[in-house]
Amino acid sequence: MKEKVKLEVISSNLLSHFFVSPCLTKLLTYFLGHMTDLINTEKDLVVSLKDYIKAEESKLEQIKKWAEKLDQLTDTATKDPEGFLGHPVNAFKLMKRLNTEWGELENLVLKDMSDGFISNMTIQRQFFPNDEDQTGAAKALLRLQDTYNLDTDTLSRGNLPGVKHKSFLTAEDCFELGKIAYTEADYYHTELWMEQALKQLDEGEVSSADKVYILDYLSYAVYQQGDLSKAVMLTKRLLELDPEHQRANGNMKYFEYIMAKEKEANKSSTESEDQAEKETEVKKKDYLPERRKYEMLCRGEGLKMTPRRQKRLFCRYYDGNRNPRYILGPVKQEDEWDKPRIVRFLDIISDEEIETVKELAKPRLSRATVHDPETGKLTTAHYRVSKSAWLSGYESPVVSRINTRIQDLTGLDVSTAEELQVANYGVGGQYEPHFDFARKDEPDAFKELGTGNRIATWLFYMSDVSAGGATVFPEVGASVWPKKGTAVFWYNLFPSGEGDYSTRHAACPVLVGNKWVSNKWLHERGQEFRRPCTLSELE
Ligand code: OGA
Ligand code: FE2
Repeated sequence: MKEKVKLEVISSNLLSHFFVSPCLTKLLTYFLGHMTDLINTEKDLVVSLKDYIKAEESKLEQIKKWAEKLDQLTDTATKDPEGFLGHPVNAFKLMKRLNTEWGELENLVLKDMSDGFISNMTIQRQFFPNDEDQTGAAKALLRLQDTYNLDTDTLSRGNLPGVKHKSFLTAEDCFELGKIAYTEADYYHTELWMEQALKQLDEGEVSSADKVYILDYLSYAVYQQGDLSKAVMLTKRLLELDPEHQRANGNMKYFEYIMAKEKEANKSSTESEDQAEKETEVKKKDYLPERRKYEMLCRGEGLKMTPRRQKRLFCRYYDGNRNPRYILGPVKQEDEWDKPRIVRFLDIISDEEIETVKELAKPRLSRATVHDPETGKLTTAHYRVSKSAWLSGYESPVVSRINTRIQDLTGLDVSTAEELQVANYGVGGQYEPHFDFARKDEPDAFKELGTGNRIATWLFYMSDVSAGGATVFPEVGASVWPKKGTAVFWYNLFPSGEGDYSTRHAACPVLVGNKWVSNKWLHERGQEFRRPCTLSELE
């Protein structure tokens, strides 16, 4: 047996991420085990299943040969029994066959060839995802659908940007997704997915999914969302397929009753009510909650920066403020944003360095954690879904060289920084809006380090991402797209030490592909002469 799926270990590293985003709207507890190990597990099982088929086939082959041989023999024997038995060898062989050979054949027929496969299955099953994991994966899919505004048909036909291995959802799969949404009382997605299942069946897809069941869920979801006439229409359709359907007949009567009542009530409703309704709708549109802003930025629908501001963004060769290591070979630097100032360094980490960092991190990757302000402990959270590991400069000259590079180019002392954190986001992996720095109400966050607050963040992009996975700043409307070999840098604190709330940021869920980043959190201590205070607090 090959590698087993390792159980999740909660990182005990105290330097893990600390801040809880207030916008914990949706629960996303989903499977983040070693998914690639599961692929190997499945491959193993297929091999073992094929071995079983071979064994079963060879057993049947033996039995068939025996049957054919005996078929011929008994044919001849029954035609002339006396003549046949007149030969002493035939008489002896008949005895032998009946006394031992048929018994052996019986054993062969009874022989269980499935041992190997079944025991393999039993061992591997303990690493299989469970119902909760499957629900989680479904919820992640629905979540991606929302964030990236994907219509159900596109998703079901697998038409996503940048996919390498196209994959379809069957009507049965769509039904399953709809059911999961239904059990979450998420009638919006129930409707979308039940409708998709129905559509695929109407188009002639052969499936075990049953239209009556689908219509039953669908009409209920539609009713729950207040579209009574559509619910009636769907229930009628259900009754055409199954006129005796008890619940549907009951619902039909109920719907008709409600509709009659509504008609009555509508007559007496006034116009001013309509007006009030319209006004609240307008208000709703004006106020964009952070979640919506975050999702818009993730889709690349960022509010565009004014041309006037854009004109002040430049690119340049940067020598680290006359750093001897960069005077002859300055690096490419681009302004990504003005306020807060976000700069991107290009070709700042080589493919070889990336490979080394990834290889060092891989065996240590474990589910990233956050600081729970209530218990003070590190826990996993649905709003931070990624795997991470920490690398010290002492363990590899490559890591040490990278640390020095960050020091040279930021002008900040890295000896007080946290270790290099490597993070890997799979599909659906994300980190919802958060601050990297500790707020005033969390004075103890970095107490153990004794190096003050997180003054700045340096973030390497160690992969391209086929779709999704941007780093976005919802307060200011900036989206930074991952590009392999580049890095972004920003200050989290003003020179006064005051936190800059405009640096609130998030890692958008990966839609297609895999995202690798590594980051360095620089701290206040050691920067006293490198980045001195200014006279004004928020400068
Ligand atoms: C972080 C973070 C952004 C990203 O890890 O703190 O904000 O794009 N990451 O991965
Ligand atoms: Fe962050």
